Amino acid sequence: MTTQTPTSTAQIRADFLEFFKGRGHTIVPSAPLVPGNDPTLLFTNSGMVQFKDVFLGAEKRSYVRAADVQRCLRAGGKHNDLDQVGYTARHHTFFEMLGNWSFGDYFKKDAIAWAWELLTQVWKLPAERLLVTVYHTDDEAYALWRDMVGIPEERIVRIGDNKGGPFASDNFWQMADTGPCGPCTEIFYDHGPAHFGGPPGSPDEDGDRFIEIWNLVFMQFDKQPDGTLLPLPAPCVDTGMGLERLAAILQGVHSNYEIDLFQALIRKAGELTGTTDLENKSLRVIADHIRACSFLIVDGVLPSNEGRGYVLRRIIRRALRHGWMLGVRRPFFSAMVATLDAVMGEAYPELREKRDLVERALRAEEDRFAETLDAGMRIFDEIATRSQGAIPGEDAFRLYDTYGFPLDLTADIARERGLEVDMAGFDAAMQRQRDTARAAGKFASSAGLPADLVAQLSPTVFEGYDATDASGLEVVALLRDGRPVDAIDAGDEAVVILDRTPFYGESGGQVGDTGTLDADGVRFDVDDTQKFAGQFHGHVGRLTAGTLRRGDRLRGAVDDARRASILLNHSATHLLHGALRDLLGSHVAQKGSLVAPERLRFDFSHFQPVTGEELGEIERRVNVEVRANHPVTIEQMDMQSALDAGAMALFGEKYGERVRVVTMGNSVELCGGTHVDRTGRIGLFKLVSEGGVSAGVRRIEALTGQAALDHVRAEEERLRQAAGLLGGSAADVGDRVRALLDRQKQLERELDALKAKAASGATSDLAAGAVDVAGLKVVAARIEGLDARALRDAVDRLKQQLGDVVVVLAGANDGKAALVAGVGGAAAGRVKAGELLSEIAGRIGGKGGGRPDLAQGGGEDGPALQAALADVGRWVAERAG
Ligand code: ALA
Repeated sequence: MTTQTPTSTAQIRADFLEFFKGRGHTIVPSAPLVPGNDPTLLFTNSGMVQFKDVFLGAEKRSYVRAADVQRCLRAGGKHNDLDQVGYTARHHTFFEMLGNWSFGDYFKKDAIAWAWELLTQVWKLPAERLLVTVYHTDDEAYALWRDMVGIPEERIVRIGDNKGGPFASDNFWQMADTGPCGPCTEIFYDHGPAHFGGPPGSPDEDGDRFIEIWNLVFMQFDKQPDGTLLPLPAPCVDTGMGLERLAAILQGVHSNYEIDLFQALIRKAGELTGTTDLENKSLRVIADHIRACSFLIVDGVLPSNEGRGYVLRRIIRRALRHGWMLGVRRPFFSAMVATLDAVMGEAYPELREKRDLVERALRAEEDRFAETLDAGMRIFDEIATRSQGAIPGEDAFRLYDTYGFPLDLTADIARERGLEVDMAGFDAAMQRQRDTARAAGKFASSAGLPADLVAQLSPTVFEGYDATDASGLEVVALLRDGRPVDAIDAGDEAVVILDRTPFYGESGGQVGDTGTLDADGVRFDVDDTQKFAGQFHGHVGRLTAGTLRRGDRLRGAVDDARRASILLNHSATHLLHGALRDLLGSHVAQKGSLVAPERLRFDFSHFQPVTGEELGEIERRVNVEVRANHPVTIEQMDMQSALDAGAMALFGEKYGERVRVVTMGNSVELCGGTHVDRTGRIGLFKLVSEGGVSAGVRRIEALTGQAALDHVRAEEERLRQAAGLLGGSAADVGDRVRALLDRQKQLERELDALKAKAASGATSDLAAGAVDVAGLKVVAARIEGLDARALRDAVDRLKQQLGDVVVVLAGANDGKAALVAGVGGAAAGRVKAGELLSEIAGRIGGKGGGRPDLAQGGGEDGPALQAALADVGRWVAERAG
């Protein structure tokens, strides 16, 4: 192998596709990492994910053989390799899977023959280095390997389920806890005795010598939530080969990290982190993680605290911590994207296109974690020093909660120090915050119809693009409490499924239609229309008259005024999307939308608030498109033609082979929704709010048509009322408010002056009332409303006026009294202000003190205060007499 020119990863991808194309396979593009419309799965974890419904018989394609190179992620969920990355030569979070499929066409014989031919004829792997495993009861596969291919029996291993056994190498593959599955046969490559490890099925099988390269799955069952295996409509083939593992073999290296693609990334990581030892484990982790993180962002995920976004955040933080270990204290991870683009952008144009977004999102997360990573590592060191064996759960939680250390990051760091983490303790500490942190769990909820019902029904034919009513609609299924029934009675809440319908089922952000279904003596009020299993329109509502049975025929009438408002909002959403991308940049991608009759809401990726000026410009541009009165054209075409036409496809949406393309002016989008015939019908587009939803995601809300006009009228009315109150016209409101504010400022100044004057008047009165005690003047008085500052001013004035004086003033305010005492002239030295003040404060339940000449404090207002003030003369006489 090592004697020939090493085959590049790019060449391997090309060889693989060409081989299967030559054998009647249709080459399909890689699906995104976020599976479209599949609530049972967090990420695309193998090539077959995009074909799940084809295996189940719920979806048909125009071909029965397919091949592709699929980007995959195994981090979270059933297949999770995150913990292994960096510790072995062949585990990755992100990897590329070469796959070929048969949908009810060829089966074991061809799958095995072609795999062998490609490996040994095209790539010329030495046959004696290959071993295979088969499922322990699969005699057919065993015989094919032995008799057709000619592999000696000692290199064919039967593998059982080994459930609960020490080795998890069962040869029964399933995508997730439910869904398509079947027995498989795996091809292994022997890297030779220089590496530790035993053949599959042996106690040392987890070593690095025998590496699985290709898995051929014979899909035969659909696993149900209760574990039952229902046979698939037809037996299928699903194969998956690890591109990186194969490249290692073809390039004559042992570790995946030594292949061309990874070496480029590792060299870059070395350069950015100043690490010269390119074997360093942390460089491998960084090289692996930059692929996972970049493609997650390309496929529409952004770092967050729940679900997929949290998996992304965990991977990013793990990479950043490895950079930190290498001594990096500046952002470096986002700077890896350029190199990733250089090595993978050709094969994945979507990466090249979204590079700017990826860099910005990673950089934002780097900046964010930089704030706590350093402090968190110090805290970790303290905890590790005092912990024995395990990091206490409380501490792991503190690292999580305060320093943003995901639990697996803490476990990873702990592992390096030979410590574990008390997971149960962490969970207990987490209890309070469970609800938010467990959001990933929502992916496990299953939505839809019973599988046997799905198998019996044909997809609902939607007739509502052009019409809002129809008759002769046949009831093909009725559900009450989620279960199929034959009939429902008046008063029952139920879901009605028809063979065809004018009711739009909620999808693509557009809400479902409402209206009525009826026949003589029978009436069903439709409160909502939902899509079940992606293809059956379920009319959700209540039977208000008669009895409805399966097989009955109904008339359907959609609430068309409501539908008409929805059309305006949906078309306006497309124009808004276009205007945002034009003005803010192509990183703007739709993250969600709501198209309802009363308003539209649009969430999109963008890193800062949209400014007032930008909002004005966006609104202006959308209205220009409205007034241009573009015709809205709708065409069906294949996906590639749509993309060539510049159509914007949405992340995570699943599209069939034929797609519906909606064009208005410059806006071209893939969309299944309902639209106006010309943009002019929108009438008026009015933005009403802009705000943040989560890191990097903004939300705009807007109105159209009559609702937009009503909004403008209501604002105008408010302005008119304000103008009325101000006694002018709407045009002068600004000037009048400004004049009022000026006037108010002037009045405040006058009021201050008057207050000062009143205070000095009061001090004259006080001065006049001073009494003589032992040759000193004594003033003790309670004054309503003065605060401490005004009291100090008054005390100063009295000192000036009276010379040898002892003054105590109490300013009463809301049951409290502020106290200020002052001593002036000859009184100084004979009486101490601080002592006097604490005496009085003490008698009114307060406290205070200060210098001999000035002191202040406070206490309760009331009779005790009056008494204390009355005693001041005596107190002075005692001290000064
Ligand atoms: N779906 C199979 C796997 O991932 C081929 O191994």
